Amino acid sequence: MFISEKSRTLGIHAEVQARYGRIAEELKLDISASCCSGSTCSSQLYATDISWLPDTATTLSLGSGDPISAAQLQPGETVVDLGAGGGIDCLLAGHLVGPDGHVIGIDMTPAMLAQAEENRKKAGLTNVEFRQGYIEHLPIESESADVVISNCVINLSPDKTAVFREAFRVLKPGGRLVVSDIVTHGQFTPEQRADMAAWACCISGAEDVQTYTAAIQAAGFTNVMVQAKDATHLDDTKLPPSEQEIHVFSALVTAVKPEGNND
Ligand SMILES: C[S@@+](CC[C@H](N)C(=O)[O-])C[C@H]1O[C@@H](n2cnc3c(N)ncnc32)[C@H](O)[C@@H]1O
Repeated sequence: MFISEKSRTLGIHAEVQARYGRIAEELKLDISASCCSGSTCSSQLYATDISWLPDTATTLSLGSGDPISAAQLQPGETVVDLGAGGGIDCLLAGHLVGPDGHVIGIDMTPAMLAQAEENRKKAGLTNVEFRQGYIEHLPIESESADVVISNCVINLSPDKTAVFREAFRVLKPGGRLVVSDIVTHGQFTPEQRADMAAWACCISGAEDVQTYTAAIQAAGFTNVMVQAKDATHLDDTKLPPSEQEIHVFSALVTAVKPEGNND
């Protein structure tokens, strides 16, 4: 059966939103939250001090790595976080960029945004804001950000090309892209891609790392670098059939928007 690109996008967004909405609601009800326990997304050890964060922010940490330390944020910078979730990276970024800086967290899931806003208030940060939106159509002004970060989100997008195009648009010339994400060596089959539960668990939406970096370059970025992480914490029971031939792993991907770009 033919499924249009628009229906596919809507279907994936709905599935992913339902999953993360549930996780955020469970935290509110004090049921232990996890992205896909034992899977690729899990709470991480940050190289930065996270002891000052509210418990509800660390409990709702669903990232695959630590883009914050890699981003080397400076006081006064403007940061955009794609798929902010419960807000952990936005709060850490807000602390680092200080009162003259600004952090905007984007997420499509209302329950996650509510948790993120609660966490922001608990942390007492006034330079962080959360906006509802899709990372494929960012509600952000062009050339307004110094850094775009993201943590275990872009693999969930049905249109990664649009995500990187948007990241490029909102960055100032010379701006940095710093992403932790799940990627693969090898491609999932269309049948595996159709497994929406595995997609929402940050597995079957993951892209081959070469295709992923090619999309970043096609958006206009230069200096594209990939650093694979050692442990992937995969739970085999959550993987689609035949996954064995595909290596799924967490990576830190960085790139730069060239200076003097006129687009
Ligand atoms: C695995 S969680 C990661 C959250 C956060 N980055 C962290 O490290 O804890 C994925 C988040 O991305 C959001 N998300 C997924 N796809 C999205 C999209 N296309 N547009 C906006 N938000 C999206 C989900 O609502 C969810 O809050």
